[in-house]
Amino acid sequence: MVYDRRPDDMERITTPELANAFIDEQVQAVKEQVGDKKVLLALSGGVDSSVVAALLIKAIGDQLTCVHVNHGLLRKGEPEQVIEVFQNQMNANLVYVDATDRFLDKLAGVDDPETKRMIIGNEFIEVFAEEARKLEGVEFLAQGTIWPDILESEDGIKAHHNAGGLPEDLNFELVEPVKILFKDEVRMVGDALGLPENMVYRQPFPGPGLGVRCPGAITRDRLEAVRESDAILREEFEKAGLAGKVWQYFTVVPDFRSTGVKDGKRAFEWMCIIRAVNTKDAMTAEIEHVPFDLMQKLVDRITHEVPGINRVLYDMTPKPTGTIEYE
Ligand code: XMP
Repeated sequence: MVYDRRPDDMERITTPELANAFIDEQVQAVKEQVGDKKVLLALSGGVDSSVVAALLIKAIGDQLTCVHVNHGLLRKGEPEQVIEVFQNQMNANLVYVDATDRFLDKLAGVDDPETKRMIIGNEFIEVFAEEARKLEGVEFLAQGTIWPDILESEDGIKAHHNAGGLPEDLNFELVEPVKILFKDEVRMVGDALGLPENMVYRQPFPGPGLGVRCPGAITRDRLEAVRESDAILREEFEKAGLAGKVWQYFTVVPDFRSTGVKDGKRAFEWMCIIRAVNTKDAMTAEIEHVPFDLMQKLVDRITHEVPGINRVLYDMTPKPTGTIEYE
């Protein structure tokens, strides 16, 4: 039985068997909905869009075109992983757009957080729409809408971020195969579809990406310092067995320099702030008790390996009063 809405008595998907049954059901439903027509999907590499991509590849193969827009604000290795998993391993039709320059040029000199978010959101739609117009005969748009998105938009908490946004000439019918699932169920389905663990169980990552972790006007060198320090943090948390245990962890590099000394010379450089928090629903958050040895290792690696950083700080502030992100 394929549901249009999540029924109150629907069994939660908690086992690989239930995940496989859901996949079979949705593969059939997508085939019936789409027939021999073409489908387009914006594939960010996040859990929801990746699971939808894998499900649709299984259902309709090369009738699906995935567009991966690299806005230049992704974490280290993310665009490469999308290409490796979907193009090389799953044989998907993948259009990879490196729009880094477009985004960073538009963001140059912009320091207001909400304006930065708006520029990133609008430019994303613009780039995706341009790619959509280049393709012929596409009638469907697939989206990684999940059940909490629908609940929140019904409650008026936030606009349903997936639906809409595209210009009117792109009038697609929606394909939303995971819309009756909760996040943990989407992960179960992703596992059953054979997606890599670090894709299925990755920590939440905001749409504006590293852009909100480079407070103030984004510059390429400071953005690179955020990306490199974030990669070191992820690597060391993984080695220490903390990946998957700590809810969200990342680095922030504010536009502020302090005096330091490197190789016997004055080094007037940025500081890198580490944030590591645990939460259930992101409304409140507690600080992770990071072991002191690991902290020392992080300080050592980040100050020696990341150009432009001479200090590392740990943000001990819970939410409230601090939000999880810095802008
Ligand atoms: P805050 O900073 O409000 O973050 O405590 C709560 C959670 O939401 C994520 N977040 C965002 N996600 N677009 C997103 O898709 C955004 O603009 C955005 N801002 C914050 C944040 O990473 C955390 O998990």
